[in-house]
Amino acid sequence: RRKQSRKGSMADIPKDLLQEIKRLEDLFTVDTAKLKAIVEHFISELAKGLSVEGGSIPMNPTWCMGFPTGNETGTFLALDMGGTNLRVCEINLPEEKGEFDIIQSKYRLPEDLKTGTADELWAYIADCLQQFIEYHHEGEKLDKLPLGFTFSYPATQNYIDHGILQRWTKGFDIEGVEGKDVVPPFEAALEERGVPIKLTALINDTTGTLIASSYTDSEMKIGCIFGTGCNAAYMEHFSEIPKLAHMKVDPNQEIAINCEWGAFDNEHKILPRTQYDVIIDKDSPRPGQQSFEKMIAGLYLGELFRLVLVDLHEQPHVKIFEGQDVAALKKPYSLDASFLSDVESDPFENLQETHDTFHTKLNIKCTKPELELIRRLAELIGTRSARLSACGVAAICKKKGYKTAHVGADGSVFNKYPHFKARGAQALKEILDWDKGRDGKPLGRGNDPVEILPAEDGSGVGAALIAALTLKRVQEGNV
Ligand code: GLC
Repeated sequence: RRKQSRKGSMADIPKDLLQEIKRLEDLFTVDTAKLKAIVEHFISELAKGLSVEGGSIPMNPTWCMGFPTGNETGTFLALDMGGTNLRVCEINLPEEKGEFDIIQSKYRLPEDLKTGTADELWAYIADCLQQFIEYHHEGEKLDKLPLGFTFSYPATQNYIDHGILQRWTKGFDIEGVEGKDVVPPFEAALEERGVPIKLTALINDTTGTLIASSYTDSEMKIGCIFGTGCNAAYMEHFSEIPKLAHMKVDPNQEIAINCEWGAFDNEHKILPRTQYDVIIDKDSPRPGQQSFEKMIAGLYLGELFRLVLVDLHEQPHVKIFEGQDVAALKKPYSLDASFLSDVESDPFENLQETHDTFHTKLNIKCTKPELELIRRLAELIGTRSARLSACGVAAICKKKGYKTAHVGADGSVFNKYPHFKARGAQALKEILDWDKGRDGKPLGRGNDPVEILPAEDGSGVGAALIAALTLKRVQEGNV
């Protein structure tokens, strides 16, 4: 199927819808000047997060100190508690840098667990690990296997094998976990079942992504997740981290910082929030938190789109979905980011696929002009997400003074949302004022000074590498 240009199709749209499209364009478009202003503020907020007073971006030290050398070896377990799945891997890091040997199993993370009790959560996770061990090591007598646990929520870490959950993000709302160390109840659940595992490192998905990607590409400077949530990690020198000055570590030593940049602009100073962003925040389990994330991450893109359509339907002067039953559309979080990406990738000139999905999923039969508005709205929301995401990347590069860098990225939005990569690259170009690529060559794939590239498996290989690095540090007495 051929991608067709949709230019000119706006001509037949009634005036009220055309006006709404224009209003939405103004609302959701972030121009170059605004991007630059956001980046400047972002840079100062990154520094604030590293200061003794702190700011709204947590800038969590991870105690992952430095990059892997390639000499890491051994067998490690990795557990990834993502938003939708629970993944367990066993990874063999080879004696010599090369292919990893991985076995893995995926378990569904039941939806009600996300708002259930802490005991249920740890019991479920421990059961999955037990199943994994029993299945892959049946009848074997095992020494405790070291585990890298990818726990992708903001955590305060005084040690790499502990982590106090600062707050749940991404719609999780399990009572009795915030403000507490997550490791003891996790280990207790394993102990109860006699599962031979020792937690070696608690890591964030962004840190895992950074480490796994740097293993194969020494230009990797930042690890990003653009998925259900959005966040990044990078290496910072102790000299730049006043809040760790009391630790008296060599100022030239590096440590990975999990930015938790989803919290950027919680005080609403700079981001161009719309009335729809305000509703998303107000109706979320943690209002006032994760302002940036709520404008750009996968969990919220479909909901933003839905809120706009419901609002338009309710405006007396806008004629949209007239005489249709919009009950299904009115259900919060009924549309996810993949719905939006389907709308954006509809290859047909007449938006036939979008028409059919609206009909089957929402029981709404759209007219041609309505389909045009829907497509434009999806583009606006997807484009805003990519452009704002690029601000975070640009801010870290500018803070660190990187003229060139590779950025390893993972997550459903980065991997699956149409045009996300190209839109992000375009925004970087505008923010960083590039007129030519590396070595004076023309800009473009492979030549852009800063490039966001698909990452290696952070929560699997990355977690294993960090566990290996940690064990090595312990053995060397460098704790
Ligand atoms: C949320 C979490 C963060 C994670 C990101 C991507 O922002 O708070 O820890 O890295 O989602 O999964």
